[in-house]
Amino acid sequence: MTQATTEPVYKADSLIASDIDAYLEAHQHKTMLRFITCGSVDDGKSTLIGRLLYDSKQIFEDQLASLEADSKRIGTQGQDIDFALLVDGLAAEREQGITIDVAYRFFATEKRKFIVADTPGHEQYTRNMVTGASTADLAVILIDARKGVLTQTRRHSYLAHLIGIRHIVLAVNKMDLVGYDQATYDAIVADYAAFAADIGIAQFTAMPISGFRGDNITAPSPNTPWYGGPSLIAHLEQVEIDSEADAAAPFRMAVQWVNRPNLDFRGFAGLIASGAIAPGDAVRILPSGKTSTVARIVTLDGDLDRAVAGQSVTLTLTDEVDCSRGDVIAAAADPVATADQFEATIVWMDEAEMLPGRPYWMKIGTQTVSATIQQPKYQVNVNSMAQLAAKTLELNAIGVANLSVDRAIPFTPYAENRDLGGFILIDRMTNRTVGAGMIHFALRRADNIHWQAVDVSREAHAAQKGQSPKLLWFTGLSGSGKSTIANIVEKKLYALGKHSFLLDGDNVRHGLNRDLGFTDADRVENIRRVGEVAKLMTDAGLIVITAFISPFRAERDMVRAMLPAGEFVEIHVDTPLAEAEARDVKGLYAKARSGALKNFTGIDSPYEPPERAEIHIDTTRMSAEQAADIIVEHVVGVWSYDL
Ligand code: ADX
Repeated sequence: MTQATTEPVYKADSLIASDIDAYLEAHQHKTMLRFITCGSVDDGKSTLIGRLLYDSKQIFEDQLASLEADSKRIGTQGQDIDFALLVDGLAAEREQGITIDVAYRFFATEKRKFIVADTPGHEQYTRNMVTGASTADLAVILIDARKGVLTQTRRHSYLAHLIGIRHIVLAVNKMDLVGYDQATYDAIVADYAAFAADIGIAQFTAMPISGFRGDNITAPSPNTPWYGGPSLIAHLEQVEIDSEADAAAPFRMAVQWVNRPNLDFRGFAGLIASGAIAPGDAVRILPSGKTSTVARIVTLDGDLDRAVAGQSVTLTLTDEVDCSRGDVIAAAADPVATADQFEATIVWMDEAEMLPGRPYWMKIGTQTVSATIQQPKYQVNVNSMAQLAAKTLELNAIGVANLSVDRAIPFTPYAENRDLGGFILIDRMTNRTVGAGMIHFALRRADNIHWQAVDVSREAHAAQKGQSPKLLWFTGLSGSGKSTIANIVEKKLYALGKHSFLLDGDNVRHGLNRDLGFTDADRVENIRRVGEVAKLMTDAGLIVITAFISPFRAERDMVRAMLPAGEFVEIHVDTPLAEAEARDVKGLYAKARSGALKNFTGIDSPYEPPERAEIHIDTTRMSAEQAADIIVEHVVGVWSYDL
């Protein structure tokens, strides 16, 4: 094979960062199309990608030589090269015969440059597909002409549509193996069209190809005279890419950082998510709603007269308005909305299931907020598209749920803009990305439920009782002594004339939380409700005492954050598991060990001890009475036994 000498040559499957830069540099004048290929293990996906790379001449000659040798060794027919060997570069993958994780590959033609995300076909890799596809303009859905539309085809199409990919190519592959039969092709396309309409894919482009033989890849194939459409490459070269479409939308830019090198310059840097901007344009800053006018568009290469979607710029404004990281600068006449409650589709990506009510970090646009998700309205079976009831979402599950964030944030529905309507969810403890989501719309309810101003304030309630409200939050294993100590504490407070109330796990579970069991999700909801009730009681001026295992740090911290600083007093009743089990007052440990009781804390359900409890009680070293004294001292500052 001869290499075009003017084009730099790159190893197709393992570009290192500097190669990529040089490569993109060389092709800077061209637009870039990002696309994904979806297919199951033997639909010929790798062969097709190898063919695209090969035909666009982005393969090293020595790599080609080894490929030819490999193909012979593996016994591919005739002089044809097995292109799958090229992309399935990793030996392990090759042995397994499947491609896992997302691999990005680069190639270019005379007209355009391309990044293709090669995503795996296996069901458990929904997350990889979502990751690989989140910035794609187009998806190539591969079908084996001998097999037709399969469950995977439906799943991949649904995901591609969900992620907001605007262009779908139905590549009916392996046409050589069905004798280039038009009837076979037509039947597959009709079958797919019916399904596509069902899930809301309004339009797609179908083409008969053979990745292996090269039919309709770079040029119309003589083997399919009945097909009048473009070759795959020709189609990829001419579809409209997202940034072109986004440029026509109203102006939106999330502020990544505020550039303030000296007192004379204050610029707002970010990537333009949609629309165009020019000096003199009126803009509105969200969430504040303040308006201003663009003074300059600053870039490293000098000022611009105009900038469009996809460009990174720094804007300066004519007024000294407040604007910080996470804010959105939008066209003044057509700004984005702000809200603190949304309905969204959520794709769960973590081994640990989603826990409704637990606060997660949510990264949306350029800001990070705290979000809690409600119990899903439903979960989607991605194979049948059926909507199923769900209490939570497990790894790779896709569901629809309402979620609320801790402050009003600027956003757009995902369908309008992926940058401002898409988000990821991060576990606050482990820092793992646990989910991705797409906003459908804001819940009007969030706007309509106002805080009712009350005349008798929480301060007035507390003053009337002559005390400072507190929440004494006991946490510890079952049988650690929480209830016993809490009970003594309340008696001592009562004797001191304090107004208190004790909420106890066993009791609350008979009433308010009768509907909850002991799964992780139910425990989170248990604590969320208790936290809310306890908060209301502190508003009434009470010293509230709670005795719940409350096994998770995240929820204890959530309740802590609900109260004014200093009001939440975390009390770790620290009894070693062996000790609690030896006491086994309620006989539950014996039941748990025998397997008669599931999800028992300390046995087959975790307990996360506090890291910064205000009070640590080691029950092996003091009596319940002594523990209660320490706690009362902390609350009222008086040794109760002195009275
Ligand atoms: S929490 O984990 O959600 O905070 P909570 O304190 O309300 O638990 O309830 C714990 C009490 O329920 C225990 O003291 C015990 O009496 C009882 N219980 C019943 N089943 C379980 C279980 N599987 N795990 C822990 N406690 C259980």
